[in-house]
Amino acid sequence: MLHKWKQEFLYNFKSITYFLGINDTSLMVNPRIQHRPTICYRPIKPSDLETLERIHSDVFPIRYESEFFQSVVNGCDVVSWAAVDRSRPDGQSDELIGFVTARIILAKDSEIADLLRYDSSRVDQTLVYILTLGVVDAYRNLGIATALIREVIKYASSIPVCRAVYLHVISYNNPAIHLYTKMSFNCIRRLHGFYLINESWSQLLFVA
Ligand SMILES: CC(C)(COP(=O)(O)OP(=O)(O)OC[C@H]1O[C@@H](n2cnc3c(N)ncnc32)[C@H](O)[C@@H]1OP(=O)(O)O)[C@@H](O)C(=O)NCCC(=O)NCCS
Repeated sequence: MLHKWKQEFLYNFKSITYFLGINDTSLMVNPRIQHRPTICYRPIKPSDLETLERIHSDVFPIRYESEFFQSVVNGCDVVSWAAVDRSRPDGQSDELIGFVTARIILAKDSEIADLLRYDSSRVDQTLVYILTLGVVDAYRNLGIATALIREVIKYASSIPVCRAVYLHVISYNNPAIHLYTKMSFNCIRRLHGFYLINESWSQLLFVA
């Protein structure tokens, strides 16, 4: 059943130090993968376009415009990280198996401006907003999304004027909510009718 309300979560990355910066991570063998994966993280690049579009369509119930994918792969206004499995055979060792995309926005222009206790004279203060996050099914529960979010937090914490990282999540997406809560994101507000999926307004959590 779809509930018609929204939630917001707040997380201030500057008060917490967990910038582990995981790279070149060797993981436990997943029964759905025929080999021991060696996961690496890198920026998304133009040659990732086709795979990125396919994975988005596989993992999300909503379609994204082609302009969005062009912005991601060309780094236009969007920062991104890809997860790849270097142990994959058949020339797939650089193919995306996970991704996160994010954008810097001005804090004063964001939906959570009212919740941030910031100096309004500091018009340069920013937030990092996570646009999309996904991991292909066979590689889930291996810590890949956790590592991708850490990359975003590490990036945000390197920007002196950045105040927080935030994102939206549909409120019945338990794996994602579990992940964000585990990573010390806080729910700060419930939003109503943020996304329209399959003709029904869905719940959403707003995480910062
Ligand atoms: C959400 C998603 C990105 C997580 O990716 P992942 O690489 O599997 O995440 P991690 O392995 O880093 O962590 C997953 C955590 O969720 C937990 N989890 C998995 N399924 C769960 C479920 N049904 N309910 C609650 N928790 C769940 C895992 O146990 C793990 O927690 P743990 O480390 O405490 O054991 C992935 O499931 C996905 O791509 N989903 C589809 C796209 C999506 O929903 N994106 C988020 C939109 S905001």
